[in-house]
Amino acid sequence: MQTLSYTDSAQDLHAAAIALRAGQLIAFPTETVYGLGGDARNDMAVAGIFEAKGRPRFNPLIVHVASLQEAQELAVFDTKALALAQRFWPGPLTMVLPARAGNGLSALVTADLPSLAIRVPAHKTALGLLAAFGGPVAAPSANISGAISPTTAAHVMQGLGGRIAGVVDGGPCAVGVESTILALLGGSAQILRHGGAEQEDIEAALGAALDVPAAPQESRPLAPGQLASHYAPDSALRMNAVAAKPGEVMIGFGPYLGDITLSANGTLREAAANLFAALRRADAMAAATGGAIAVAPIPFEGLGRAINDRLTRAAAPKP
Ligand code: TXA
Ligand code: MG
Repeated sequence: MQTLSYTDSAQDLHAAAIALRAGQLIAFPTETVYGLGGDARNDMAVAGIFEAKGRPRFNPLIVHVASLQEAQELAVFDTKALALAQRFWPGPLTMVLPARAGNGLSALVTADLPSLAIRVPAHKTALGLLAAFGGPVAAPSANISGAISPTTAAHVMQGLGGRIAGVVDGGPCAVGVESTILALLGGSAQILRHGGAEQEDIEAALGAALDVPAAPQESRPLAPGQLASHYAPDSALRMNAVAAKPGEVMIGFGPYLGDITLSANGTLREAAANLFAALRRADAMAAATGGAIAVAPIPFEGLGRAINDRLTRAAAPKP
């Protein structure tokens, strides 16, 4: 299959929307990472997403819509969910909510769960594509399952070129780590995955502390992003390194200098935006010398929670 490149012009987004309507898979930029989009109401399209990614089928997908109003047609929002949608959408917060009966989504999207993960992305190109398509788009990160998530159209091509119909190029992703996943079910609020929306901000909006995930476990069935090994480079990776050992490629942060730096002035926002591209570069450098990757300590606060989460999984032994 030849993978077409689309620009973010209105004409190209229209063409990409037609491909989505035909059940084809189109990768597109969001503020977090590039997503691999398919029509969320089309079983064949959704099955194709799992196939193209080589993802285990039992993992449900995030549904992307252009507005809160569209989201309310698919899931049931209580007052907490409404308040969070108004505060964080469009933006990097995915909410897991009770699915609305008869919402028309493919059962593969929710893996037959009674809940639905949904968000409105804060990206002009994504919103333009969703508007042109006019319906819900299921989209996991646009990478082969378990590999480093893509933050540019070129990253998508490296992993999925030849396996999908097209990629819309909207430049590099500003946030750089996936959305925060918050389950709002049965009256409780629990973070299932740290990401672009900061725990502190969600807690401030809710006026209450959240349940947060434990350290990665070997096999949490809910989420590939919750598997112990995920976002993984080919090279071994060591965290909390204050200096490189011989043969290591060092990824620095703030005062800890490296061959590559996530953020020279120690800004977590900049570090998140650079994370996956830095892992790719370090992996290529390490592969060339037969070495490994070392990463400087990242503070465990704000976006640092998501960065440490991704690094922990990148460092985990691969199955
Ligand atoms: O930033 C993002 O969230 C990106 C962009 C493309 O939007 N998408 C993304 O999707 O990271 P994905 O498929 O890689 O991650 C979706 C996560 C998975 O970990 C999945 O298990 C979880 O959401 N999830 C989906 N539906 C769920 C549900 N009903 N209950 C619990 N977890 C769910
Ligand atoms: Mg992913």
